[in-house]
Amino acid sequence: MALTFRARLTLWYVATLVCLLALTAAGLIYALDRIAQKKFDAALWMVGATEAENVAARLNARGLERPDTETVSNTRYRELLGYGEGALEKYVTVVDDSRRVADRTSNLPAPLPADDDLLTRSFAGEVVYQTVEVAGVGRLRVVYMPVRGGIVARPLVVMVGLPERFVAREVRSFDVMVGLALVTITLLTAASALLLAERAIRPVEEIAAAAEAVNARNLKERLPAPGTNDQLGRLVTVFNGMLARLDAAFDAQRLFTSRAAHELRTPLTILKGEAQVALGRRRTIEEYEAQLRSSLEEIDKLVEIIDDLLLLARYEGGEADIPREPVALGEVVRLVAEQLRHYAVRKGIELNVEAEELRVEGDAKALERLVCKLLENAVFYTPRGGRVVARLAREGGRVVLAVEDTGIGIAPEELSRIFDRFYRAPAARAMRPEGSGIGLAMAATIARLHDAAVDVSSEKGKGTHFTVCFPQSADVPHEVSAGV
Ligand SMILES: Nc1ncnc2c1ncn2[C@@H]1O[C@H](COP(=O)(O)OP(=O)(O)OP(=O)(O)O)[C@@H](O)[C@H]1O
Ligand SMILES: [Mg+2]
Repeated sequence: MALTFRARLTLWYVATLVCLLALTAAGLIYALDRIAQKKFDAALWMVGATEAENVAARLNARGLERPDTETVSNTRYRELLGYGEGALEKYVTVVDDSRRVADRTSNLPAPLPADDDLLTRSFAGEVVYQTVEVAGVGRLRVVYMPVRGGIVARPLVVMVGLPERFVAREVRSFDVMVGLALVTITLLTAASALLLAERAIRPVEEIAAAAEAVNARNLKERLPAPGTNDQLGRLVTVFNGMLARLDAAFDAQRLFTSRAAHELRTPLTILKGEAQVALGRRRTIEEYEAQLRSSLEEIDKLVEIIDDLLLLARYEGGEADIPREPVALGEVVRLVAEQLRHYAVRKGIELNVEAEELRVEGDAKALERLVCKLLENAVFYTPRGGRVVARLAREGGRVVLAVEDTGIGIAPEELSRIFDRFYRAPAARAMRPEGSGIGLAMAATIARLHDAAVDVSSEKGKGTHFTVCFPQSADVPHEVSAGV
């Protein structure tokens, strides 16, 4: 089962806290254990020292003079030390310097197990401790107390053991307290973590709910800003930014559809009108022919618009992967100019080409279309007697195409819109009613596909200057000749 974000957040938080608490508790318990052990050992030392003193005193009191290994028996010591009587809380074993057990308390079924190393150290005068398991008695903490010097005739080690549970009892009660505290803190933390996670997530859920309510019809709406400068504030800002872009894209799409419909409707209406007129009465063959020719012009125009739109859609959708081949752009410019020359001459316009033999990398057909769109505009929107120049030159290492005319120009407020599909300035519309307004959109898209920058400057009534600046890498050395 997938956990909610809130549950995961709580779980992480609680798990981290429990780990930290457990580590702290373990540290505390360990420290306390050490302290209790030290305290216990100190008490054991006292008991051991007293016992050792007793042993020495009793040995001296009975006047045993330096017994040697052969003569002193265990029974003899026993008599002297008096461990024969009564049950004792403490467990004592006395070992002499020949490592024989001299005596032990009667509560021990066997002498305390002595460690050789510890015995040696103790005979050397050190007080040492050991924890041992004694069958029938349990775990004992044992102190090895040396008795030597002038007090007794021969050195002895008095091993005194006390049950370890005396220490364990104290520590265990602390363990229980720590355990209880751990559980309580964990439960309280889990509850507060749930509440905190709920509080932290609420704004995100509000954003999600608001976002869910957004659809294509209410793209103008925006999410309420949380008024904070944090991640949530940023999320809302980013989301609102995305909505704004979507809104703009939808608007552009709607505008495009209505303009496209309008552009397509005009020739269709003309066609319909012509057909109705033709069918109005009987006509001669010649009249019908003239009628059909006129219809064909409108049909050509329709086909041209649709072709351009399809091509634009393909270029924009990245569907048409443009080839990257060296294209002799100078030749392209001359070729396009020649195609337009006839029209320019008829209109009484001087059309000049000043093109260097330069190459760029890209799609020859698309580049020809780009040059054509710019150059035909210059010729179309320049009145009789005007001048159009197409230049191709290298500027600062880049190949730059410039198309300049002395035509009607473009008003500053229209400049930003001329690259929109179907936009046509009123002056251009009046001068050439048959345009459809997609030439520059196509030119801009082709330029973008070639990583080229299009620039325009214009003065109303004076003329217009378009430049297309190709990127540095697109400037291909002029050895290969490419067909256009
Ligand atoms: N050289 C120019 N001089 C003046 N105005 C221009 C020039 N080039 C473009 N424009 C303006 O930009 C508008 C858009 O140009 P675009 O080439 O996209 O469309 P169009 O020429 O009107 O139609 P078509 O789709 O047939 O090219 C034109 O209608 C015109 O107002
Ligand atoms: Mg045009």
